[in-house]
Amino acid sequence: MTMQTLARDGAGISAGQPARTYLMCPPTYFDVHYAINAWMDPTAPVDRDRARHEWERLRATYVSLGHTVHVLPPVPGLPDMVFAANGATVVGGMVLGAKFRHPERTAEADAHRMWFEEHGYRRVRTAEHVNEGEGDYAFAYRAIVAGHGFRTDPAAHNELHDAFGLPVVSVRLVDPRFYHLDTALCVIDPFTAAYYPGAFDEDGLIKLKTLFPELIEATEEDALAFGLNAVSDGRHVIVPDDAVTLIARLTERGYHVLPIEMTELRKAGGGPKCCTLELRP
Ligand code: ARG
Repeated sequence: MTMQTLARDGAGISAGQPARTYLMCPPTYFDVHYAINAWMDPTAPVDRDRARHEWERLRATYVSLGHTVHVLPPVPGLPDMVFAANGATVVGGMVLGAKFRHPERTAEADAHRMWFEEHGYRRVRTAEHVNEGEGDYAFAYRAIVAGHGFRTDPAAHNELHDAFGLPVVSVRLVDPRFYHLDTALCVIDPFTAAYYPGAFDEDGLIKLKTLFPELIEATEEDALAFGLNAVSDGRHVIVPDDAVTLIARLTERGYHVLPIEMTELRKAGGGPKCCTLELRP
């Protein structure tokens, strides 16, 4: 997709917005029995039926928008596998595998790699450095914004550039509540991103302001509601329903916002974007 094909109409991208392809993994074995981020409390009960319901609604929303959803089979013993965004990064049909920071999630990378190999992806690269896929890598059309600070090793950012040949904009995350980039930044369209400034250092804020002509600020409440863990196809934006200020700001700008309830999966520190890995052809 070139910048030329993405005509700007002031209200997000409307005409000719291509359908997206996503990979999701059902929360069949979802649980919180370890704590690897500030949100996880292994003593709090998890309602797996409710998690399933939230996940099914997310999947159904994508399908209703005309997007394709592929399903990655869940693996027993991998309760965070529902967060498919972390398993790889896919741009131009090329797959860069993940390498998880925590041993609890290490095996997820192989499950993803096998899925890609079995589904005709010929270019699958194994990561040398810790990277948690789209958790920390945000595709921004003409560049990739790459987070570090809590999970992804900054050394992985070179590998990211080698894999896709796109400029990499490295930003440091500074607030442990927003431990992955996709909890603090959401690319809405080629010109626009929403972000929570408090999650970044000064240098990161300057880089984001340089990269995106339009930056929509989320409040701390929005960010704590995982509002930035939203998914945009350029026009429709799926946002956790309690991120009310962000929803209003997106709506004001003409985006078609689809609020979604996702409170059960949040107990593991995840939201709609975490459950969604985009497969870019
Ligand atoms: N419990 C998971 C972890 O800490 C949540 C991952 C959320 N995924 C994301 N893309 N932010 O790794």
